[in-house]
Amino acid sequence: MRRREFLYDGLAGACTLAFAKCSAPKAISSVDSRIEILIGESLGTISPDIYGHFTENLGGVVYDGMWVGENSKVPNIDGIRTKLIEEMRKIKAPVVRYPGGCFADSYDWRDGIGPADKRPRRTNFWSDGEESGAPTSHKYDPNQFGTNEFVHFCKLIGAQPYLAANVRSLSAGEFYRWVEYCNSPAGATTLADIRAAAGYVEPFNVRFWGVGNESWGCGGNFTPQEYASEFRRFTTWVPHYGQRLFFIASGPNVDDWNWTRGFFEEILRKGRSPLRSIYGIALHHYAWNVSRGRTQDWVQGKGDALKFDAVEWYELLREGEHMESLINGHWHIMGEADPSHAVKLIVDEWGPWYRPGSEVTPGDQLEQVPTLRDAVFSGMTLDIFNRHPEKVAMANCAQLINCLNSLYLAHEDKFCVTPVGHVFAMYAAHQGGQAVRTMFSAPTISYDRDGKPAAFWGLQGSASLHDKDLVLTVVNPAIRDPREAEIVIRDARIKVVVGTTLTHPDIHAHNTFERKEEVFPQTKPLPVSSGTLTHTFPPASVSSLVLTLA
Ligand code: AHR
Repeated sequence: MRRREFLYDGLAGACTLAFAKCSAPKAISSVDSRIEILIGESLGTISPDIYGHFTENLGGVVYDGMWVGENSKVPNIDGIRTKLIEEMRKIKAPVVRYPGGCFADSYDWRDGIGPADKRPRRTNFWSDGEESGAPTSHKYDPNQFGTNEFVHFCKLIGAQPYLAANVRSLSAGEFYRWVEYCNSPAGATTLADIRAAAGYVEPFNVRFWGVGNESWGCGGNFTPQEYASEFRRFTTWVPHYGQRLFFIASGPNVDDWNWTRGFFEEILRKGRSPLRSIYGIALHHYAWNVSRGRTQDWVQGKGDALKFDAVEWYELLREGEHMESLINGHWHIMGEADPSHAVKLIVDEWGPWYRPGSEVTPGDQLEQVPTLRDAVFSGMTLDIFNRHPEKVAMANCAQLINCLNSLYLAHEDKFCVTPVGHVFAMYAAHQGGQAVRTMFSAPTISYDRDGKPAAFWGLQGSASLHDKDLVLTVVNPAIRDPREAEIVIRDARIKVVVGTTLTHPDIHAHNTFERKEEVFPQTKPLPVSSGTLTHTFPPASVSSLVLTLA
């Protein structure tokens, strides 16, 4: 079964894999790697929005994860889980996408406004995948969390809302009305009055609007040409209310170059002006196939979130690393239609996707437990985005809580930050910095891929300049080998360095409600000698170094 078929057909079953603990790290005594940072060679400004998030009305993401209700015994602010708000403030969350995902193209935003006790219950897009014991709110959407609550959540954490419009099952007119509900001035329209009656007099000024989701699949099963024509219709003459609207087109699935090319060719058939309404095109890439090339089947190719061997560790990273060639490939095709590259890439779904079985809360559809592997994966992916600041304007990790590559797990009054959450905290300092060219040289990792030799890079990362501070993040994917690197800053001397490292002797390590700090970052000052730095990056680690330059 291919992913596209899954998106039409729903979820299927699982199997198990044996795994082994990794052996003790090998000791090495001398410098074997080099990181050279060229602070004079800017790659562009890192958009804070590449550190964005994604929250879909799916399984335990909204109900239980984000929304506990005002009368809950779980500490909350206006019904929203307080702990989540606190954690998201810490990571400077810039933008959150909602309500889907596939859910978005069957959602009627009108169901989620007005007095909470008058809101209808509706069948959730994901209802057929829910297990019989799953909470009713996962199968039948109670609509207690809607536009008001979502925008309020964004305001509480200091993020911009990014709403995904329904193209498959609502009209363009309904999309305009949603924009009107959110953005028309106080007292100006009937919808503004309805918003005010709920306590939101001032407009929400929502700027990011997704026009459908995965329109090649669950979002309508369109051809790129059909979708481009829908996109033109949905985005023509939308009232602005003084707020620039940033429209995001539904983009390709992974390496579907044909989608990107077909979409832009069709857009241009009406001349160049429709191009100006596109802020970005949304690329989705999940890393799921750890079968070592044995199958392309969406179900059979997946591995377990917690039980994996060394080969699966590398296979997952290899799948994730594909992100860089996807960015380059789609960017190249976008340039055929848009040589000045006014349209940016928005990677609004990314992360690993494992088979079911590791849910901390049984019945939470698509929930998986992130391990150290997912932290390394996430660091690697964020570094890729940092290295392409001129191309990637926004990215949204899928998904925030109780789902795929989640930063947080929660159930009732239990909550924990996952290793992925820690990586977001460690990388937050990159936001808004000048990405600078950085060269990594380290021994290549060799591993046995079922009798065939395979290789993976030894060290990778990214660097950004913030006045006199340089932020360097580095991933060492090797399961056994530390890497001792000489860190050289071209044309500058290092004064002070503070380093934070996330690692664990067991590559399967993860946090749970009982052991919340099993995987936890360690921060300490690092010794600088004559303006230079030599640092050991432990095996299976993510590091963040803040260097103050002389
Ligand atoms: O993140 C889960 C699902 O993956 C989303 O709903 C969909 O857009 C994608 O296929």
